Amino acid sequence: MNCLFFVTVLALTISNIEGAVARFEVEIGNYARFDFGPEMIIIKRTTSVTEEAQYLFAGPNQDGSWTTNGIDKIPSNAHLYWNGTIVFKSITKDDLGSYEMPLEPQRMHLAKTMIDIVLKGQ
Ligand SMILES: *[C@@H]1O[C@H](CO)[C@@H](O)[C@H](O)[C@H]1NC(C)=O
Repeated sequence: MNCLFFVTVLALTISNIEGAVARFEVEIGNYARFDFGPEMIIIKRTTSVTEEAQYLFAGPNQDGSWTTNGIDKIPSNAHLYWNGTIVFKSITKDDLGSYEMPLEPQRMHLAKTMIDIVLKGQ
């Protein structure tokens, strides 16, 4: 009885992880905009540029740079607004990767949302 319950929960968790990944297709050099949603004022991303995750904070004095530790700066032309909308004036290959919302509420057994920014047609 207990064992069956465990298997059911595990299966649910796995299917939810798959469901939480979204693809967002972009083209190099193009403008791109993505709405993460209200209150998502911190965005985390993993790209090929650094091994560590990079963070971008909504704030008044953004120069577009992301940071892994609050000190280093990984340049981009992204801007994150207070309403959770991110705007890239011009996508570069360094922007391709996986984006997450550290402030997204965690619901039991549900994976956090991940948005993969990929090249169109790939
Ligand atoms: C968030 O704010 C920006 C800048 O004011 C605006 O361009 C964008 O449309 C807004 N996003 C939403 C989802 O309303």
